[in-house]
Amino acid sequence: MKPSVLNIRSCLDLNRYVIADVGDRENYLAICNELGKVTQTREIFLKPKETVEKYTGYSHLPDEVPFHTDYPLANVVGLFCEEVDNLGGGENLLIDTRDILGELSLLEVEDLKSVQIPLPRSEDRLPLLTVEEGRPPHVYWLPAFALVNLDKLNDSQVTAIKRFNEVLLIRRSEKRFLSFKLKAGQAIWFDNFVMLHGRDQLDPSSRRLQLRVFIQYV
Ligand SMILES: [Fe+2]
Repeated sequence: MKPSVLNIRSCLDLNRYVIADVGDRENYLAICNELGKVTQTREIFLKPKETVEKYTGYSHLPDEVPFHTDYPLANVVGLFCEEVDNLGGGENLLIDTRDILGELSLLEVEDLKSVQIPLPRSEDRLPLLTVEEGRPPHVYWLPAFALVNLDKLNDSQVTAIKRFNEVLLIRRSEKRFLSFKLKAGQAIWFDNFVMLHGRDQLDPSSRRLQLRVFIQYV
């Protein structure tokens, strides 16, 4: 039985991620279009290093992908697994930023709110952390952007950023995160504001194909 869009919505709202058997690409895209406005669709597969974007192209490379936010204006990201291989590795990983922030001091959390991170391919910036009454925290974490130009920040901002990164790295090394080995025909959607995602190392000869979608979820 195919999952209903209503079920996908309620799981996404409750847990900030949902995994479902959707069958094929057409059905996956139909569900994405019902969840909101699809702003980008991209096939994710291994590419030669020299052809990928410098800071944000790591999903196309076999190395371990650090926890990060995807394009920060898309609040939901979907990944559909179209083709798999049996080479091992490549698990899709999620971590809830509320758990990370819970390990920081109130002062560190306040400092993170005052840090502005550049948007990819833009002059604009977004706060690393936005907290609004009645909503989960909105985190924008792109290590390649957040961990550079620290000399432009004050000492307590630098401490807060390093601490946030340290908690992420410790959890990664202790394997305290959600891990999903998607089968062909399965999809995962996650809240790109609340959950950070990453990926385990892929075999360099992997022919895995995932279809990533950015959604303005409403
Ligand atoms: Fe990503």
